[in-house]
Amino acid sequence: MFSQLEMPPADPILGLSVKFKADTNPDKIDLGPGIYKDEAGKTPVLACVKAAETFRVENEDTKVYLGSTGSALFNDKITSLILGADHKIIAENRIRTLSTPGGTGALRIAGEFINRSKPGATIWVSNPTWANHQGVFTASGLKVENYPYYDYENKCLDFDAMVEALKQVSADDAVLFHACCHNPSGMDLNQEQWKVVAELARDIGFTPVIDIAYQGFGNGLDEDAAGLRVVANVVDQMIICSSCSKNFGLYRERIGACSVIGSSAAQADILGAVMATVVRVTYSMPPAHGAAIVETILSSEELTQQWHGELQVMRDRISGMRQLLVEKLAENGVTEDFSFITRQNGMFSFLGITPEQIARLQDEFSIYIVGSSRINVAGVAPANVDYLTQSIAKVLK
Ligand code: LMR
Repeated sequence: MFSQLEMPPADPILGLSVKFKADTNPDKIDLGPGIYKDEAGKTPVLACVKAAETFRVENEDTKVYLGSTGSALFNDKITSLILGADHKIIAENRIRTLSTPGGTGALRIAGEFINRSKPGATIWVSNPTWANHQGVFTASGLKVENYPYYDYENKCLDFDAMVEALKQVSADDAVLFHACCHNPSGMDLNQEQWKVVAELARDIGFTPVIDIAYQGFGNGLDEDAAGLRVVANVVDQMIICSSCSKNFGLYRERIGACSVIGSSAAQADILGAVMATVVRVTYSMPPAHGAAIVETILSSEELTQQWHGELQVMRDRISGMRQLLVEKLAENGVTEDFSFITRQNGMFSFLGITPEQIARLQDEFSIYIVGSSRINVAGVAPANVDYLTQSIAKVLK
């Protein structure tokens, strides 16, 4: 049965962690997977999460099944977080949200759901995009195509090319957008550009699928969802895949959500029910613990305030490191202009260096960055920035 199987290549992102752990260089720096780290290089459990877990331990009174859609309270809280509590779609009862195992689980359910509606449909993803999008959607039975997004030469968005490509998309296709903190480029659409995209979706009829994995890491919780809300205001149907891995620091809990918006409450009932059947044959029902933490935080005014504060500390540290990185690159002899780093949002920056330079950083300096030249800015700290920028200066020479 299994004799034909061959060793698969290492995951382009998670595979780096394995190599990093095995590296004995005391100066090694991990700028690979998108995980928040504090100045000391630690990924602490948020205090609001600890408080919610304590509350949970004391108050949980059953471990009975939750069902395929997961916790209704969590689902309501997430719907409000992504759309804003007073969004008309909530008032019109046109959205159904299901808890999922992480943001990847949400994407896979979205892919399977699209495939259920239109078997073998095409989903368009940005060039570049998160390294796992292609695999998740292909595994769901979809065909994956790329639309231009990032101008590698000028280190900015290539919006005109993106719009031209989207004009060619068919009504039966889905198009994936990153709501904020584009992974890997860090370059986001502005509100005007979101409006153009929303109107294209409405006029052509393609289905927007919005991946919001970093809400709160760009400019703020509402600011980071503003583009997604522009689209939701304009189109009849869309899918939103969200994650609590980063903004709640719940990486290993695997908690996210898949939301589907229908053109009416009656259609939303059908879409939500079909999505639940997709879950039932995939993993039956989502795990409860992460959802319980998030709903406990979001049901308490005090814990919500604490969470906002902790999220802001993470966001501010990352943007501070962007500034420091640009300053230190110049100070340590890099003559190329890296100021674009401060114009990118969220956890990632796209250095635009060559595969050879990336390999040298790893082999000679034990600095681990993703092969696309994406760095996790949260891995930069005052204690390692000189070694990092001096090493970059050496490989750029
Ligand atoms: C990343 O892009 O680094 C994160 O989303 C972690 C992952 O699963 O790839």
